[in-house]
Amino acid sequence: MCGIVGYNGKEKAVNILLDGLSRLEYRGYDSAGIAIRDKEIEVFKAKGKLSNLKDKIKDKKLNGTCGIGHTRWATHGEPNETNAHPHVSNDGNVTLVHNGIIENYQELTQKLFRHDYKLFSETDTEVLTNLIDYYYKKYKMGPIDAINRTMVRVRGSYAIAVMFKEYPDEIWVARKDSPMIIGQDSNGTYLASDVPAILKYTNKVYYIDNMEAACLKKDKVIFYDLNGDVVKKELKEIKWDVSSAEKEGFEHFMIKEINEQPEVVKKTINSLTNNNKIDLSKTGLKEEDIKRIKDIYIVACGSAYHVGVCAQYIFEDLARIPTKVDIASEFRYRKPILNKNTLVIIISQSGETADSLAALREAKNMGVKTLAIVNVVGSSIAREADYVLYTLAGPEIAVATTKAFSTQLIASYTLAIEFAKIKKKINNNYYQELINEMNQIPEKIKEILNNLTTNIQKIASKFSNIKDAFYIGRGLDYAISLEGSLKLKEVSYIHSEAYASGELKHGTISLIEDNTLVIGIATQEEIFEKTISNLVEVKSRGAYVVVVTINGKDVSKVANNTIMIPETNKYFYPSLSVIPLQLIGYYITVSKGLDVDKPRNLAKSVTVE
Ligand code: AGP
Repeated sequence: MCGIVGYNGKEKAVNILLDGLSRLEYRGYDSAGIAIRDKEIEVFKAKGKLSNLKDKIKDKKLNGTCGIGHTRWATHGEPNETNAHPHVSNDGNVTLVHNGIIENYQELTQKLFRHDYKLFSETDTEVLTNLIDYYYKKYKMGPIDAINRTMVRVRGSYAIAVMFKEYPDEIWVARKDSPMIIGQDSNGTYLASDVPAILKYTNKVYYIDNMEAACLKKDKVIFYDLNGDVVKKELKEIKWDVSSAEKEGFEHFMIKEINEQPEVVKKTINSLTNNNKIDLSKTGLKEEDIKRIKDIYIVACGSAYHVGVCAQYIFEDLARIPTKVDIASEFRYRKPILNKNTLVIIISQSGETADSLAALREAKNMGVKTLAIVNVVGSSIAREADYVLYTLAGPEIAVATTKAFSTQLIASYTLAIEFAKIKKKINNNYYQELINEMNQIPEKIKEILNNLTTNIQKIASKFSNIKDAFYIGRGLDYAISLEGSLKLKEVSYIHSEAYASGELKHGTISLIEDNTLVIGIATQEEIFEKTISNLVEVKSRGAYVVVVTINGKDVSKVANNTIMIPETNKYFYPSLSVIPLQLIGYYITVSKGLDVDKPRNLAKSVTVE
């Protein structure tokens, strides 16, 4: 997804903008640009990596202390310099960067043509830029009026930063559905698509709501609603430290974040328990709310969806609550059957995934209570859900999620245990036993990381040239095989499929050939033998079998390699079995020499449909 940054203050803007853009690279992009205002506004753009832009401006004297910047993830128009942002209106009055999609840009293009505007790029953003200019000139009421009229007129999503020629010491911003954070310190004011871009400068931030605009001056920020009235906002403090947005000696963010899991899982457990009892009070969920829940609908995308698949097994088995799970892009169009006692749970690391946000709104429109499990404080999904459970993974920079995934699992376990207790499906002894075992998970993750990483790296190094891989399991093992498969394919570009191992013989087993890699996850006691017999089936057809199973299990008759993880309660094995799968994806990718933190075509937060 695109990334926007801006700065207005005492310091030279160029360094702050480039630093901010470099911290947004993980969002995925194919071109970049900045606009710096000294006496005039100067715009510089380059296709490809940020380093190309830096080369372009390295000999320029850019002393301006006000500017905006952008990394573009192409949605309209191919990646090239003309389509890169910032865009400038025909006579240079308006300079703008944008993250989002303007859905009605074709009709707006015709409107601009009727008023003798010209367009030079293929982007919806250039249309937006000239439309603001059109309203600015037509009504002569200044920036906030021009921006508000534009917000009323366009359909779609946007987070924009705008500079007006006649307003030299101001940056104007507005947002609808696309993320934006605004910061302030004694050196000035800052804006960005995401926290890591400004955390180095300030952890004091404002949250701008949908359909709001703001003016960033050098020493203050003024917010406006759609009527142009001033809106009072409180400066909040972000509890993330800068180091969490740095690599800190690790080669990549992904391996750093894999290794942060014991710590952030522990933090998340501690935030959801009190005196060794579960405490959901921070979420806003009360006991009477939980008693009313008759069924649960979990909605998410990607890895967050895989957490939902795990949670479905656990909510049904432990709390005996009928639970469905759906990918958000399907849920929002399937006309789901919800009733007044359905709880819809939206899981999202970024809290900005467009499909998940839309699913949340769909559920709310149907009068259903919604609970968000999110990692980014103040994100759109967090602010619009009825209840919010924050995971404490800290900023997750690598596109492939790992630590956020693990903290989302903890959130799911905690909810399931508390729901089971309140609905009297488990007695106090078992309730306490589950909490005591959940408290052991961080240490057991650390044990895996300390004892198995080298062995897993060796196993992974055999597979850097494979073309296909299969991950299979049953029950929770199947759920986590989905995540293992995604962890491999999204960073290594190796085709990979996850399959319920009992389903293989209904077609897919025909793909198994000599040395096809099959990774079997076998931690669920009741169905352990069945999974092993499925692995024997693929082994007999020539597969190379790697088994992730529990310490002490003898799988030597079927496994070419075995990865043994510590014992735990059956519900918590996803937290342990996922660790080797994350490491396999990481080390295969690194052995292929690929950019594991910023895989091609992917963005950290998919804020468009
Ligand atoms: C997972 O490694 C991917 N980065 C992706 O599937 C991600 O989980 C998905 O896009 C959902 O993102 P969210 O949790 O921020 O909503």
